[in-house]
Amino acid sequence: MSARLTPILILSFLSLLQPAQMVKHENFKTCSQSGFCKRNRALADRAQSAGASWTAPYELDGKTLQLKDGVLTGKIWKTEAGGIELPLEVSLFENGVARVTIDEAQRRTGEITLRHDSKARKERYDGAEKWALVGDHKCQKTATMETKEGVTTVAYGPDNYEARITHKPFSVQFLKGGEVYIVFNDRNLINVEHWRPKIEKAEGEEPTEDEETYWEETFGGNTDSKPRGPESVALDITFPGYDHVYGIPEHATSLSLKETRGGEGNYNEPYRLYNSDVFEYETDSPMTLYGSIPFMQAQKKGSTVGVFWLSAAETWVDVIKTKQNPHALTTEKASTQTHWISESGLLDVFVLLGPDAAWVYRQYGELTGFTTLPAMFSIAYHQCRWNYVSQDDVKDVDRKFDKFDIPYDVIWLDIEHTDGKRYFTWDPLTFSKPESMQKTLARRDRKLVAIVDPHIKNDENYAVDKEMVAKGFGVKDKGGEKVYEGWCWPGSSHWVDCFNPAAVDWWKSLFKFDKFIGSTPNLWIWNDMNEPSVFNGPETTMPKDNIHHGNWEHRDVHNINGMSFHNATYEGLKIRLGSGKERRPFVLTRSFFAGSQRSAAMWTGDNQADWPHLQQAFPMLLANGIAGFPFAGADVGGFFGNPSKELLTRWYQAGAFYPFFRGHAHIDAKRREPYLAGEPYVSIIRDAIRLRYSLLPAWYTAFHQASREGMPILRPHFVMFPDDEAGFAIDDQFFLGGTGLLAKPIVKESATKTTVYFPDDQVYYDYFDHTTYHRKGHHEVSAALEEIPLFMRGGHIIPRKDRPRRSSGLMKYDPYTLVIAVSSEGTADGVLYVDDGETYAHQSGAYIHRAFTFSYGDNTLRSGNLHPEPAKAAAYNKDMRSVRVERIVIVGIGKEWAAKKVVEVKQGSKTWKAKIVYTEGKDGKANTAVVRDPKVSITKDWSVNFT
Ligand code: NOJ
Repeated sequence: MSARLTPILILSFLSLLQPAQMVKHENFKTCSQSGFCKRNRALADRAQSAGASWTAPYELDGKTLQLKDGVLTGKIWKTEAGGIELPLEVSLFENGVARVTIDEAQRRTGEITLRHDSKARKERYDGAEKWALVGDHKCQKTATMETKEGVTTVAYGPDNYEARITHKPFSVQFLKGGEVYIVFNDRNLINVEHWRPKIEKAEGEEPTEDEETYWEETFGGNTDSKPRGPESVALDITFPGYDHVYGIPEHATSLSLKETRGGEGNYNEPYRLYNSDVFEYETDSPMTLYGSIPFMQAQKKGSTVGVFWLSAAETWVDVIKTKQNPHALTTEKASTQTHWISESGLLDVFVLLGPDAAWVYRQYGELTGFTTLPAMFSIAYHQCRWNYVSQDDVKDVDRKFDKFDIPYDVIWLDIEHTDGKRYFTWDPLTFSKPESMQKTLARRDRKLVAIVDPHIKNDENYAVDKEMVAKGFGVKDKGGEKVYEGWCWPGSSHWVDCFNPAAVDWWKSLFKFDKFIGSTPNLWIWNDMNEPSVFNGPETTMPKDNIHHGNWEHRDVHNINGMSFHNATYEGLKIRLGSGKERRPFVLTRSFFAGSQRSAAMWTGDNQADWPHLQQAFPMLLANGIAGFPFAGADVGGFFGNPSKELLTRWYQAGAFYPFFRGHAHIDAKRREPYLAGEPYVSIIRDAIRLRYSLLPAWYTAFHQASREGMPILRPHFVMFPDDEAGFAIDDQFFLGGTGLLAKPIVKESATKTTVYFPDDQVYYDYFDHTTYHRKGHHEVSAALEEIPLFMRGGHIIPRKDRPRRSSGLMKYDPYTLVIAVSSEGTADGVLYVDDGETYAHQSGAYIHRAFTFSYGDNTLRSGNLHPEPAKAAAYNKDMRSVRVERIVIVGIGKEWAAKKVVEVKQGSKTWKAKIVYTEGKDGKANTAVVRDPKVSITKDWSVNFT
C-alpha cells in the first residue's frame, strides 16, 4: 500500500493527526482592520518615535475648575480644529474610589449633524453606568483642592490619597502617602476623536490613511455606515513599578497578562473586548471572546491597585512592560504601561488604589455589585449535551447516574428540545410530557435547565415573535424603524431589545407558568448566543449601526447586550413564583459584562476536547474571578471533538474545582456521560464528582464570602501571598476560597507526577493521605490518573459532608465532618456558612454562620457564632437543630495523642464524652486522630476538649 500512497492521501492522513479545528482568523478584525484601533495605535507609534518632543494637544483650563461636594469639574480643551471643549468630571467616592469622566460638549448639546439621516443619538453614550454600577456612590465632601504652577492637587480618600492633575498637557497622577501608584496620560496618548463634518474630497484627492475609516468601514462584505463619524476615546494608563497585570476577561490567555506589542513570547495584537461568538477559539491568544469585563488589576510586591474602564463599546487594550536594565544600579522594578482604546462613548475610568487585593475586590464589588449567592444545586454537578433527544433519553440518563452511584443535580436541554427552535416551546414528539419529566427529576431533588436564546424565529405564527414585532420590542436596523432581521439557529430571526424597559417587562412575563407551558418551578434557564451571535452579521454579530431603544447605536452598547438579556431572564424567573415565594434563579450566560455577576453564572463557551483547552480553562476562570465574576466554568470534556478517556477523566478532576461544574458536548460528539467511560475511568470520575459534593459546604461558604466581600472563589497565589513574587504568574494552581485548600488538578497528558509550589513555610498536608510538606518552594508530588494534587494548608478547618447522595438537595440535613489541619504553630480556624440554599430567607437572617477555632495550647476545638443577629435565625436553627457534626478529623498532631481515648464535649449546660481514635502517620505522613460522633449541633456553640 505504501508505494501507492499518493501525496493527497498522505496529506489527508496527516490532517487527521492535526487538531481538526481552528479558529477562522479572517472572520474577526485585527487592530489594523478596526479603523479606530489602527488610528490610536498609529498615534502611539508616532509618540514612540517622537520621544521627548511628543506632547498631547489636551489642556485643562485651570480657571474652570471647581470642587464641590467631592466632585471636581472643569473643561479640557483639545487644542485642534479651533478648540474642542471636553467637560471633565472627577468624582471622589467616600470609599476611596476616584472616577474620571471626559465628555465632548458639542455632542452632548447636539450641535452636530449625523450623516445618512440617521436617527441615532448624538451624544456620547453615557448609559453604561446604569447597567454596570449599583448603589449610591456618595462623594467625599471633605475632599480639598489646591492649584500651584499649573498642577491641581485634590486630596481625598481614607488614606492620604491625592489626584495630582497637570493642566498642560492634561495628565493625572494618583498617589498614596506621596507615592505614585497610577498615572493617566503618562505617555501622552490621550485621544478623544471629536465630531467633525465630512468634507467631500475634490476629484482625485485621496483620503489620508486615518480618514479612510472615518465615515464608513467595510469588513467581510458588511459596511458600517458610521453616521457619527470617528468618535473613539483612548488613554494610556501606567502602573509604575508594577510588573504584573491581570483581568480584562474574557481571553484565552495566561492570568498574568502578556505584552501585546511584539517581542519574544508576547502578542502582536492588543487584547480585544468585543463580545463575539468565536467559533473554535484558540488558546494562548488576545482575541476577543464571548464576554468582557474591562477591569484590570496590577500587582507588585505588597501592593494591588485596579482600574475599571467603563465602556460598552468595542475596546482594545495594549500592554507593555518597561524593561528592567540588568546593569542599572537602582533596584527599580519594571513598570506596566497600558493603552485603552474604545470606539465610542464617554471616557470613563475608575481608580482603585488598594492597598491589597481584598480591598480592591471590595471596592470593585461596591461599584458593580457582588456576585449573587447561588442556589446550592447550581454549584453541584450539571449534566448537559447538545442534545438529550427526548424525555425518555433524559429519564434514562437520570436512571443511569443512579445506577452508577454518581451524584448529579441538573440535566440540561439544548436547542433541539424546542418546537423548531421556538424558545418557550417543546418539540411535540420528543418532549410531549415535559411536566412529568420534570416531576421524575424532582423525585431526587434534581432540576432541569432549558435553553432560551435572544434570537426569536421570524415566524408570524409564533406568538413570541408576533407579539415582539407588533409591540416594537425587537432591535431595529440602521433606519431605526424596521425590526432587524438576521440568521441564527431558527433561520431568519429577530432579536429582543432588552435595553427597552417595556421589552424587559414583556420578556419577564414569558417565563410565567401560563406562558411557558410545560415549565415547572424546577426549571431554570440557559441564555446562549447573547453576544449577540448573528450567523450572517459582521464578525458573527449585529451591525454596529443597528438601533436600540432610546436610539442608541448597537456600537455604543454592544458589550452590554448579553447582560441586558440575562438580567431580564433572571428577573422573569424571580417573579414567576409570585411574591414571597421567590427562589434564587439560576441563569447561565455566555455573554457578559461588568455587573453580570449579580444575576448569572458564565462558562467559557465552545472549547475543544484537547489538552491545551483543558490547561487554558483555569487561567480563564481565575481571571473571571478576580474581575468580580467568579461563578464560572468551562465545558467539562471539551465541547468540540471526542476526548480520550484519560482527558475526560482529568477534565472531571479539574471540573470538580470549577465554581460552575458542567459536562457538555457538541451535537456531533459521541455520548460521554461519565458512566459510559468504563473502568477504571468511571470510578475515578465518580470519586472526583463525589469530592465536589463532599466539599459543597466549603464551596458554599466561599460563594457566601464572594457575595459579601467580592473575594474570588478560586484564589490565585498573588491574592493569598501578595509579598511572594514567585507566585505572581502562577495560574495552574490556586486556593479554594478561604479554606486553605490548595489544588493543582492535572491538565497535562500522561502525567504521573507534577510539581506543586508551596508559597510559605507553613505545613501543607496532602488532602487524601496526609503526607506533610514543610518547606516553601517547589515539591514533586505523585499524580497518577486517580490522583488529584490537593493540599490543606496548616491552620485551617474544612467543613465537609461525607455521605454520598444522589443530589445536593438530599444532603440538606446530612451531618458534617470537620477536618482540622493543624498549623506549625498548633492552631487552626475555619468558617461555615449554611442556609436553606434556595430562597431569600437568608436575607432576613435565616442562616447559620459559625467560626471554628482550634488551639493546641488549650487542646480545644470551639464552635462560635458569627451571626450578628442570632434571634433572626431562631426558626431556621430549629429546622436544622438535628444536623450534627458526625466526625472530627485532626491532622498534624504529636505522638502524645496516642494516649487519648475519649474527649470531653460541652454544649450549653451539658457535658458528655466521645471516643477518639489515633493513627500514627508513617513515611512522612502526619499523625491523625478521629473523634467519632461528638453529637454536637451545627446550630450551637460547643467545645470539644482533647486533654
Ligand atoms: C453554542 C453554545 O456555546 C453551545 O454550548 C451550545 O451547545 C450550542 N450553541 C447550541 O445551542
